[in-house]
Amino acid sequence: MSSVVIVGTQWGDEGKGKIVDLLTRYADYVVRFQGGNNAGHTLVVDGRQFIFHIIPSGILYEDKKCVIGNGVIIDPAVLLGEIEELSEKGLPVTPERMMISERAHLIMPYHSKLDKTTEASLADGKKIGTTGRGIGPCYVDKVGRRGIKIGDLEDTELFRDKLEANLEEKNFLFTKKFNVEPLDFIQIFDQFQEYAEKLVPYLGNVSVELDNARKRDENILYEGAQGTQLDIDHGTYPFVTSSNTIAGNACNGSGAGPVHIDEVIGILKAYTTRVGEGPFPTELFDETGDALQQKGGEFGATTGRKRRCGWLDGVVAKDAVRLNSITGLAITKLDVLSGQSTLKIAREYTLDGKSYQAMPANIRKAQAVQPVYEEAPGWQEEIQEVRLFENLPVNARDYVRKIEDMTEVKASIISVGQDREQTLLLKNPFEK
Ligand code: GDP
Ligand code: IMO
Ligand code: MG
Repeated sequence: MSSVVIVGTQWGDEGKGKIVDLLTRYADYVVRFQGGNNAGHTLVVDGRQFIFHIIPSGILYEDKKCVIGNGVIIDPAVLLGEIEELSEKGLPVTPERMMISERAHLIMPYHSKLDKTTEASLADGKKIGTTGRGIGPCYVDKVGRRGIKIGDLEDTELFRDKLEANLEEKNFLFTKKFNVEPLDFIQIFDQFQEYAEKLVPYLGNVSVELDNARKRDENILYEGAQGTQLDIDHGTYPFVTSSNTIAGNACNGSGAGPVHIDEVIGILKAYTTRVGEGPFPTELFDETGDALQQKGGEFGATTGRKRRCGWLDGVVAKDAVRLNSITGLAITKLDVLSGQSTLKIAREYTLDGKSYQAMPANIRKAQAVQPVYEEAPGWQEEIQEVRLFENLPVNARDYVRKIEDMTEVKASIISVGQDREQTLLLKNPFEK
């Protein structure tokens, strides 16, 4: 029995979906534990592409169970849309194959509206560049103890009371603060009665389910969303998401105890990308950045926005290793670096003559630090068909070794293309 956590080490979109799909083969359960449909996890199997925003990326394996933990926030329209899309593709999702924690909170229509109106009202420089999916406002209500849990859908009276109270407050904001149209109670109430009918059969106690699985010696794979630098506590605040994205939250967000995690795999893109606003010390504004963006197909899987691109950031990588206790790296998109003559990796930052080994907490410092680069020779060969580490060009192998030396963590997985098959599995985290 093993429990393995997958986390993003950078600003999201590292290729978590692909690696979760790959490792699901060895797991019995795949568990999302935080975030919502701000995530966009892409899998490609035999040339067929799937993008999941809320359903765990293990769903393509019919004999595995997918779980949405209490730490996730759920937009029921998006979830039901994904369920429907999968069944149209011949992959029916049933309560036998997926369990949703009754404690997970609902993203309500006023959350996404509030997210978008708030962002629109902010001046440039103050905008976060959110995905507009209602993530921030939903977690605010959860922490403010007025949120609506998905389990509340089973209790019509409780749901009605909570909706009334919340809508009164939100409509006050919409009409008095933002000067936009209010939302209609009846419309939302009726809509959610329909959602309730479809979703209640999936609800259960996830903590109990996972504990029983563990006692049966089954393998559990936890699927993180976003990335370490987007963590609400440890990321580049306020340019972050509204949940803890780090591995420790796999426990809080699912109801598993803290001693039952065996391995943490940090997904590290071989360069860096970021969507939305906020600090990005190794960002490139030249043709190299454009080349990475184009060759890497760097467009957001959720919003379609162009991703900002830059060199690999060792400071970010070392932050991630420490914050998540990463035991193995999955280095993704190594193939995108083919054709570069020289590669750069930031070893540390400098600002006003001072050296920084970790991302500064002060946002103005995080915006201003300058990366100190180490160079590495590139390689020209395309590597998408390589399946053995020793068959990689020597400079690609050296680049991987440099990352391992810098982070003091070995690479368990190297990914050289989008497809499930385009992977070098050096060490299976489920094998002791
Ligand atoms: P996630 O949010 O971490 O799951 O990552 P996304 O799916 O948002 O973005 C990663 C993108 O890179 C997707 O389009 C993947 O199909 C793609 N991808 C993943 N691994 C590789 C790789 O090794 N090489 C290439 N070229 N693309 C990859
Ligand atoms: P995956 O799981 C990349 C970013 C948004 C924005 C900030 C806050 O696919 O890696 P939010 O909507 O969460 O309030 O937005 O966080 N962001 C992501 N960036 N990948 C993601 O998820 C992201 N989820 C949120 O772009 O900058
Ligand atoms: Mg993504």
